[in-house]
Amino acid sequence: MTFMGNELKEKLIAKIEYAESALKAASTEAEIENLRVEMIGRNGFFPAISAEMKNIPYQEKPEFGKAFNVAKNRFESLLEEAKESLKTKSRRQSDKSVDLTLPGRKWPIGVKHPISKVIDDCVAIFRRMGFIVAEGPEIETVYHNFDALNTPPDHPSRDPQDTFYFGDGRLLRTQTSTVQIRYMEKNQPPIRIVSPGRCFRRDTPDATHSMNFHQSEGLYIDKNVSMADLKSTLLYFGRELMGSETQLRLRPHFFPFTEPSVECDFSCIMCGGKGCRVCKFSGWLEIAGAGMVNPNVLRNVGFNPEEWSGYAFGMGIERIAMIRYRINDIRYLYENDMRFLEQF
Ligand code: DAH
Repeated sequence: MTFMGNELKEKLIAKIEYAESALKAASTEAEIENLRVEMIGRNGFFPAISAEMKNIPYQEKPEFGKAFNVAKNRFESLLEEAKESLKTKSRRQSDKSVDLTLPGRKWPIGVKHPISKVIDDCVAIFRRMGFIVAEGPEIETVYHNFDALNTPPDHPSRDPQDTFYFGDGRLLRTQTSTVQIRYMEKNQPPIRIVSPGRCFRRDTPDATHSMNFHQSEGLYIDKNVSMADLKSTLLYFGRELMGSETQLRLRPHFFPFTEPSVECDFSCIMCGGKGCRVCKFSGWLEIAGAGMVNPNVLRNVGFNPEEWSGYAFGMGIERIAMIRYRINDIRYLYENDMRFLEQF
């Protein structure tokens, strides 16, 4: 390059370096504007250089022209950047509502409803013993809720005073025992199921009654199943749920779908059986109904009672939740008051 070309190119480089540091240091709009005028304004640096270009030998013009354009583009983008960063800086300063010294906001974390917790815990225990979960509909037929379960036609639980019937003869299931029937209709033994779910009865709500509540049914059908199997299963369940010291007591009872039938009590978790308010000073808590599946029920689903036998049980989920969390009114469980639910 000639002396002329070289000199101009150096001028260009020096000026662009100067403009770059000046833009970085600029802290006001006026400073930036002054630089713009100085560099690309009508009487600014770039137009002046452009005017001088005519003095460069024509062979060097393309190369110099390229350098000129690169330098000018560079300046223009630096100018835009400087304007942008000044804008964001002033926006941050004017936004007084952001106090960066405040501690972060804590978002509430959801918790499981106590009913769901008890169901999950019960299911987990039975799963470890090889049971699987089976479910059935909440709207049921009279056949599945009563007839197939060997309930006599005049049994008081069928009364419309106790059961919600639909106009078409169907009903809201009053027990999860219905799932036993549905499962046995579709599956062959050996069967080992638990069926947690919602049930409905026409009760007047009070501290211990609700028109809708939850049960979990259990059913085991195999060869040579005995009362001892039932007892050991319930004892294992009770100890897993309520502690290794828990004792089991079976009292004779009656259910149409089991023979013999029992009511199943666990020693009170609060007092260990000594007697307290929770167990009404009896030392025992009634948790489930159970028994050996009545041969009539097996026949109703087409199983031969000479070949197959089994046990069944049904427990109240609310009852377990109320004992475990010391809730003295069942209605708290359905009100969904956050102050109540947050405690679990
Ligand atoms: N279905 C009974 C109830 O609602 C509970 C029950 C008792 C279920 C004994 C059973 C059983 O499977 O064998 O009160």
